[in-house]
Amino acid sequence: MLSLHGSAAMVLVAGLVLGGLVSAAPVVAQEAKQVALPFGGPFDLQGSNGKRVTDKDLRGKPALVLFGFTHCPDVCPTSLFTVAEALKQLGPSGDDIQTVFISVDPERDTPELLATYLDAFDPRFLGLTGTQEEITAVTRAYRVHRLKVKTASSAEGYTIDHSTLTYVVDAAGNVASLIPYGATAEKIVEVLRARVLPRN
Ligand code: NI
Repeated sequence: MLSLHGSAAMVLVAGLVLGGLVSAAPVVAQEAKQVALPFGGPFDLQGSNGKRVTDKDLRGKPALVLFGFTHCPDVCPTSLFTVAEALKQLGPSGDDIQTVFISVDPERDTPELLATYLDAFDPRFLGLTGTQEEITAVTRAYRVHRLKVKTASSAEGYTIDHSTLTYVVDAAGNVASLIPYGATAEKIVEVLRARVLPRN
């Protein structure tokens, strides 16, 4: 443990805490209404729809918020594919969820690139990017780990290490639940129904 540098130790601790939160949280809709986890905050970013998008624009509808980048070799595609599967399983209710993919690599992720990339998973997905400062602000608000790492395996010579939680945000803009990487589409559907979708 002592050999871990600061940020790695923080990520580890955060992972343990979040792991506990996720598994300990009972799936009870009434309780969910009062729960707002300490993640998220105001943002103002450039959308893949060609518009500026703020946190306020997302209110009125539950959202799934993911952080990642289009050059991500496997984690991001897996997460996006699984969310797309979950929305398919929800049928028409899938239209009630706004999926938002916030770039941790604004250097490469233009709005146009995000639009093309996300369309391949689900055309309802919205990509957000911005300046380095704007992305730093939103990743801090969501407590997202983001680290540029040199690599020989990409043309630009770098990749981005990033944390992989999916944030379940309610219609009021509060983070209501966290979904860990690796969750199945069925699990995502279960969490959405329990936390943010109206009960039938
Ligand atoms: Ni990724």
